Amino acid sequence: MEPPPKDPWYRRATLYHLYPLSFADSNGDGYGDIRGIIDHLDYLNNGNSDSLGITALWLSPIYLSPMADWGYDVADHTAIDPRFGTMADFDELLEKAHERGVKLLLDFVPNHTSELHKWFTQSRASQDNPKRDWYIWADPGKDGGYPNNWVSYFGGPAWSLDKKTGQYYLHTFLPQQPDLNWRNADVRDAMFDVLRFWLNKGVDGFRTDAVMGLVKDDQLRDDAPNPNWRAGVNDPGDEFIRIHSSGQRELSNVLGSFCDVLAEKENKFLLSEAYLNVPGLHKMYGACVRHPVHAPFNFNLIGLPWSAVAYRDFIDSYEAILGPEDWPNYVLGNHDRHRLVSRLGPERARLMAVLEMTMRGLAVVYYGEELGLPDTPIGPTEVRDPWEQRVTGRGYGRDPERTPMPWNSENGGGFTDATPWLPMGSASASLNVESERRDPESSLNLYQHLIHLRAESPALIEGDYRSVDLGNGYVYGYVRETERQKFLVMLNFDFNPATVTLRGQVGKWVAGTHKVEGDGLSGVAGELELGSYEGRVYELMQGDKS
Ligand code: NOJ
Repeated sequence: MEPPPKDPWYRRATLYHLYPLSFADSNGDGYGDIRGIIDHLDYLNNGNSDSLGITALWLSPIYLSPMADWGYDVADHTAIDPRFGTMADFDELLEKAHERGVKLLLDFVPNHTSELHKWFTQSRASQDNPKRDWYIWADPGKDGGYPNNWVSYFGGPAWSLDKKTGQYYLHTFLPQQPDLNWRNADVRDAMFDVLRFWLNKGVDGFRTDAVMGLVKDDQLRDDAPNPNWRAGVNDPGDEFIRIHSSGQRELSNVLGSFCDVLAEKENKFLLSEAYLNVPGLHKMYGACVRHPVHAPFNFNLIGLPWSAVAYRDFIDSYEAILGPEDWPNYVLGNHDRHRLVSRLGPERARLMAVLEMTMRGLAVVYYGEELGLPDTPIGPTEVRDPWEQRVTGRGYGRDPERTPMPWNSENGGGFTDATPWLPMGSASASLNVESERRDPESSLNLYQHLIHLRAESPALIEGDYRSVDLGNGYVYGYVRETERQKFLVMLNFDFNPATVTLRGQVGKWVAGTHKVEGDGLSGVAGELELGSYEGRVYELMQGDKS
């Protein structure tokens, strides 16, 4: 293992996941764009405590794309889609973000390209085209049908027949997103060069899309039937357990080679999209043996049962498998999952904000999460997500969590002067940046306060984590501490007030979901009552034992 990077900025970072189509529209076409992001950098971080204070940005894809999957179908990895602006706009964004100390991560989509990518148009031209093997082609199966039983995540078979050349090509997602063949060395080299192109521009790292399925079984064997799957009840994409179409042994070499490319520059960071349990995450952390710059996203909080014990047990077990250089992270929402507030309700969402910003590891905020924004209901004529178009009415559509950022309560939400590409949603009348700035109790102010507290508190950034027993099963308590600083966090997972027992600590209330009366200074000793879904953060005086 090589020594850790000189400036492990990701260990101090609060990462803001921005969905560019929905952040701010600067040219009046109804879609968000790069100039819109530049215009709102002050909101994200203006260097003072009156801005959100995030220190890293991850942009969902901004590359040239026919937008079959809203940018996750890349037609040219090194060109900006005109919908988002120009390369000059991108360069300006990168420069201005860096001026503010904000790192910029791009979305790297290695599993597939757009069907319109020149590599695929060549590949499909003939069976003997030099690019044929860049994608995964197979003859029809014995019965003349699909080569095997693999299914697409978006419903239906993962194979489409190319009539002209008589073979099927593989697409783990849409037919418009053919899968690249990562067993082909030329594909690997070409994609490494894509990483280098952006690294040479100065980006600080990548979020890597859909890594688990990058390498497929070399014999294209059938996946295993899923005994728990019921037609019409369960997700069509789960009909088979992906033992051969995903999670292959060779994957760790590919991930390792991404890290090697990133290590050609200094202080780069790689995050992988992989929905894994704790043992799976453990394995993924091991993929980059030479450079400790890689972390798999941890999505487990999204699906955990709502209980203090479940959260404590999960986080304790996750912490336990991490090596000294492994850096944890906690994801509460993204462009593929229903919004935090819609999953948990506004009170519990506030509690999760306290957890997110006081946990050890990379804090991640999905745009609008800081506003407490719920999903926006999408009418049948408003659907833009291809998944919803293919598997209709089952709740898989991702439009509800992708609607425009509400900047104010005007028509168009300050997002656009035109008709927004997805509806603003009625919640944005009160849940918007302008209104929430004025309300000291707003979700925005809670996030802003917590983000700044975290940035200024060594114990919250690099301190140890340890769960503590507060004598109440509804309350999750933990301590974050360095030699010089110590915090006690108490999260009441119950609707009812909860009493906790403290062992004579004296501390200062520094943050929480509820307003605490008085000057904020409290002697914390004996019993303390937490309100319904209340979270409190105390900075303890040195010498307190927990
Ligand atoms: C995962 C991305 O997060 C999702 O939005 C996309 O549709 C698929 N990968 C395919 O790229």
